[in-house]
Amino acid sequence: METRHDGGRRGTQRAPERRLRRAERERVPPPPPPPLRGACAAAAATTKALAPASASTAMEVGGGPSQASSSSPPRYRLVAEIGRGAYGVVYEAVSGRTGARLAVKRIRCDAPENVELALAEFWALTSLRRRHPNVVRFEECVLQRDGLGQRMSHGNKQSALYLRLVETSLKGERILGYAEEPCYLWFVMEYCEGGDLNQYILSRRPDPATNKSFMLQLTSAIAFLHKNHIVHRDLKPDNILITETSGAPILKVADFGLSKVCAGLTARGKDGGNDDKNVNVNKYWLSSACGSDFYMAPEVWEGHYTAKADIFALGIIIWAMIERITFIDAETKKELLGTYIKQGTEIVPVGEALLENPKMELHIPQKRRTSMSEGIKQLLKDMLAANPQDRPDAFELESRMDQVTCAA
Ligand SMILES: Nc1ncnc2c1ncn2[C@@H]1O[C@H](COP(=O)(O)OP(=O)(O)OP(=O)(O)O)[C@@H](O)[C@H]1O
Ligand SMILES: [Mg+2]
Repeated sequence: METRHDGGRRGTQRAPERRLRRAERERVPPPPPPPLRGACAAAAATTKALAPASASTAMEVGGGPSQASSSSPPRYRLVAEIGRGAYGVVYEAVSGRTGARLAVKRIRCDAPENVELALAEFWALTSLRRRHPNVVRFEECVLQRDGLGQRMSHGNKQSALYLRLVETSLKGERILGYAEEPCYLWFVMEYCEGGDLNQYILSRRPDPATNKSFMLQLTSAIAFLHKNHIVHRDLKPDNILITETSGAPILKVADFGLSKVCAGLTARGKDGGNDDKNVNVNKYWLSSACGSDFYMAPEVWEGHYTAKADIFALGIIIWAMIERITFIDAETKKELLGTYIKQGTEIVPVGEALLENPKMELHIPQKRRTSMSEGIKQLLKDMLAANPQDRPDAFELESRMDQVTCAA
């Protein structure tokens, strides 16, 4: 039986600014679908269509707007809505060119906060020169306005639209068009048909082998991101998706809307990969307090932290996964994997409790009947150390994780 808690928690008035802004957006009714013109409009009778296929060459070469041609099939056909986050709507889609099943996340780029989050996701995904099996595969990003699409490329100074997006984000005021001519960013990525980590774990019987495999996959993904100087900053079970197309479940870290590419640490290897472990992401200080409170490290609440914050979030996720500790999200009423500290009738995020009392001892395992090896107990305690310097970094974690067994 999982530990369930509803509502009773404190600390919302201390929730960081960025997270509050995300929560406020959730209360805004979803915008209507974008107006579709020309070939797009014809396709919209049955499905919604994104940038036309004929635009592909022009988009890749020139980066300029591409006009729909009446004979061209849509570049992507949207099949159904599959998810809705704080600032984006995600659709299942089919590639008009290859017939491949994909996921497309649409973000409306009017409010500066939306643009900021969209650009964060864009910069993180496009900064990766290589793929990793446990990071959601990014295909392309299309900027759409007035039913016309153009492929976005990183730092394209030729594209007036791209520059205006950056300006919108920097100035914090609407630069791009008016409400009647909205602009959208579409992120095309691999489709993860297996749901998220919450759904996967909570709909199956506990299995130490699956836990171990997931721990290794997640650690490998975070080490890859940190090696590439990306701090995710919003690791939580909802942002960990699953595919089972090849048999065994494969985890995919997704949702880079709060991520940070640590600029200035971009020393690249000969082949363009960022392999220089000496360029240390753990020495890059970040200051915007953001994330989802139950997974936030104590130093994130204070707004002075490094990539070690991702290690803390991973510690919370793994601890909750092994013991199946859940809470009910007050806003969505969904059951989510996550550990917390009980204080009377309230539940408090572990990071927040550690901020108040850094000497607080964590009781791992939390449940008497949980069978946990000494190795995993110690590893979790280290990952959840109040002082980030006492936590292993992602590279140390990779070698330690390999050696631990879950059950005693
Ligand atoms: N590649 C994908 N394949 C399948 N489903 C996906 C994919 N990407 C996202 N989703 C679904 O859409 C939901 C929202 O996606 P995502 O987390 O990227 O958006 P978001 O707006 O950043 O959300 P939030 O800020 O609330 O975390 C996910 O929780 C998931 O259910
Ligand atoms: Mg999300």
